[in-house]
Amino acid sequence: MELTPPDIVRAAYAELVVTDLEASRRFWVDLLGFVVSSQTPDTLYLRGYDELIHHNLILRAGPVPAAARLAYRVRTAADLDRAEAFFAALGCRTARVPAGVTPGVGEAVRAEDPLGFTVELFFEADHAERLQQRYDLRRGAEPARMDHFNIVVPDVRAAYEYYASLGFGLSETIEDDQALYAAWMFRKQTVHDVAFTGGEGPRLHHLGFFAHESHQVLRICDILGSLRQESVIERGPGRHGVSNAFYVYLRDPDGHRVEIYTSDYYTGDPGHPVLRWSVRDPRRRDFWGHPVVPSWYNEASAVLDLDGHPRPLLSEKQPAEIMVGADGFTRLSARS
Ligand SMILES: [Fe+2]
Repeated sequence: MELTPPDIVRAAYAELVVTDLEASRRFWVDLLGFVVSSQTPDTLYLRGYDELIHHNLILRAGPVPAAARLAYRVRTAADLDRAEAFFAALGCRTARVPAGVTPGVGEAVRAEDPLGFTVELFFEADHAERLQQRYDLRRGAEPARMDHFNIVVPDVRAAYEYYASLGFGLSETIEDDQALYAAWMFRKQTVHDVAFTGGEGPRLHHLGFFAHESHQVLRICDILGSLRQESVIERGPGRHGVSNAFYVYLRDPDGHRVEIYTSDYYTGDPGHPVLRWSVRDPRRRDFWGHPVVPSWYNEASAVLDLDGHPRPLLSEKQPAEIMVGADGFTRLSARS
């Protein structure tokens, strides 16, 4: 019997474990400009200025930095039953979470997915105050909304096939005749809700948040420079080849990576053509050919299972996209 996958609408929020909640508040709220939807002594619920559900990001204080879960919104309440059946048929552990366990979120299904990530699917969500035109409140990078999860997986092709079975479309790839090195996949009508970076995994590579204008990407860099926090800027600003995004990558106080970006594109037409980048094209990761810093390829956040324990890492299956040597770094692909 063909299983009907749940109808996923979009990447909606993530939960990160952070070791110093006040330091995280200074970074995510005071510097980057996220809106605090609600808070408890050990947890912050944050959203972007365009977001109309309760949160895009949960920061929860804990002993070790990690990504606790990645949450997708589904289209109907019946999709929760479909999700439970879909993951059970794959042999994945699942759990039903009653409404209200997560503030602002209704009943949810959590699962340890076949890639080793704890995912949550939910339908009902409380609406938050509309702040899009509260320009008077904006700070930092003026983040608008959650856009995507970038995850590190040992087997990019297996990740692609799994997310294709969940009904995700493919927008772009990095590949050659031998291997799929990275892929970008979507449910909402943008370049992606999830992307795969090859490497030891499962790990969370970064959370991607959309800003409306390129000056917002530049402004957060200027602010960080002024505050002598330039080391927070890991990579960029620059223009991606893949996705055309104008981007910057920052590292939070626990090393969790966040991308602030703008200017990707519409993918919603049926049969949207896939853009396939050669792994030998130096413009794929940065359209201007700037080298990618080694930490961007090597470092990522641990992920937790349903019980909150760190998932063991598996080594990369496909060849590495780039060589990162003891003497630094080379932009050349593994096969060039
Ligand atoms: Fe990204």
